[in-house]
Amino acid sequence: MKRFLVALILAILVSSCGVSEATTRQITPKELGLSSLRTLAQNRGISIGTAVDVKPFRKEPLYTSVLAHEFNLLVPENQMKFALLHPERDTYDFKDADAMVAFAKANDMQVRGHTLLWHLSVPRWLSEGNFTRDELMDILRDHIYTVVGHYRGSIVTWDVLNEAIDANGYIKDSIWQRVIGPEYIDLAFRWAHEADPQARLFYNDYGAERRGQKADALYNFVKGMLERGVPINGVGLQMHVGLTASPDPQEFADNLKRLAALGLDVDITEMDVLIQNSKIKGSLDKKFAEQGRLYGENFKVCVSAPNCKAFVIWGFTDKYNWAVSFTGRPDKPLILDESYRPKPAYNALLKLLSEK
Ligand code: G3I
Repeated sequence: MKRFLVALILAILVSSCGVSEATTRQITPKELGLSSLRTLAQNRGISIGTAVDVKPFRKEPLYTSVLAHEFNLLVPENQMKFALLHPERDTYDFKDADAMVAFAKANDMQVRGHTLLWHLSVPRWLSEGNFTRDELMDILRDHIYTVVGHYRGSIVTWDVLNEAIDANGYIKDSIWQRVIGPEYIDLAFRWAHEADPQARLFYNDYGAERRGQKADALYNFVKGMLERGVPINGVGLQMHVGLTASPDPQEFADNLKRLAALGLDVDITEMDVLIQNSKIKGSLDKKFAEQGRLYGENFKVCVSAPNCKAFVIWGFTDKYNWAVSFTGRPDKPLILDESYRPKPAYNALLKLLSEK
């Protein structure tokens, strides 16, 4: 009996070792049913990108292996914003952003820089500094020269300015607008161009994909910049949409066309499809199917337009998505589920990329 018990305990120990060996082995993207969007996209000259969340990027191997397997363009979700990159007047903290750029290089991915200026990313030393106009111009120039210079040659596109206008076309309040005045915008683009003449320089905003006031405001805003000779190459349309709030495809296509007529590229920069707050009733499967249809519909409009050069999703797994921090409610807005398995949205993109 005693011998039997010892043998049993040994057998359990051996088999549990086997289990732990199996569970520590890294599951591969292929085993998850992922085919590699980037391979298909690359064959067609398309940039397919995602925002990268620093927490799983640092410590979750499956996150980084899926990232490199599926995308050829990487956007640090937060790590290049002013407040994180420049936490004190004389201190820049490039650590996390550098790690992402190094990862992109090692995996043959391009990088979009997001973002040099955003009124919602202002460190306390700056907002509470009581700086004069001249001092603030020096600070802005120093920030842009330092950051864009640091990544010269490594960043293909910069969102120089993020969400600076409202739906009426007025420049939103910010420390830059208050102290420097609206010239801060042209100056920022000019300094970015001086710091890296090869980088594509973009204005990035939300809610301007469909026809309407915001789209007109954005159009007039960038047209004005071009008329003033400001070095701007394109517009980022964020495309945070919902199941019942996605642009009409024809309106979206017309919008891309009129920006092309100005000589501007368009990148889709932050696409996701929130499923909360929608009037669509029914099962999660039904919502995911509609979500997939909308990913496909918008992707198709982008890749059909000669000036739409990149399609970026604001994250890729529902396990890490920005929605809850913003709306206070959990959501599932992305193309892979919490276990990194493909959702209908992933399959919709795959199908479109596979078409001849
Ligand atoms: O990581 C810290 C955590 O340690 C801390 O305990 C917690 C307490 O607040 O904050 C965490 O940081 C948060 C960070 O997201 C990481 O989750 C910040 O508070 C939070 O403000 C930050 O939100 C980001 C938001 O921009 C503001 O910068 C979202 O991740 C990011 O997805 C979102 O991205 C924006 C684009 O830049 C511009 N367009 C809209 C888009 C969505 O809002």
